[in-house]
Amino acid sequence: MNEKELIKIARQVQPNAYAPYSHFFVGAALLTAGQNVYTGVNVENSSYGLTVCAERNAVFKAISEGDNQFEAIAVAGSAEGFTYPCGACLQVLAEFNPQIRVIVCDSQDKIRIHSLTELLPQMFLL
Ligand code: THU
Repeated sequence: MNEKELIKIARQVQPNAYAPYSHFFVGAALLTAGQNVYTGVNVENSSYGLTVCAERNAVFKAISEGDNQFEAIAVAGSAEGFTYPCGACLQVLAEFNPQIRVIVCDSQDKIRIHSLTELLPQMFLL
């Protein structure tokens, strides 16, 4: 599974986002060492603070299935520019793999690949 393919999967699930408040649709695709892919979308709530981002939903699905060896996560959002994971999601990803590759794209599906350590250099780890 290469970066482009993972972004394609994130794009495919993006319309499933439940985003009636922000109208900002995000899809995520999380690749594990066993080459399983877990998808996630953002799920909003009328009590706004209860919203969960696409990335964390993908992580929680994988963990729930007993799969916690994360290699890469791809994110596709509805912005014209690149959609990057928020700080909360970066911290949740750091818990499982501080070196995870984070693949982001813009509306033309141009791709950028980062290591989590670039995006969250002084991450909190116990
Ligand atoms: N959101 C994500 O799902 N992932 C991100 O990387 C950034 C933000 C969601 C949360 C909210 O539903 C909407 O995008 C606008 O912030």
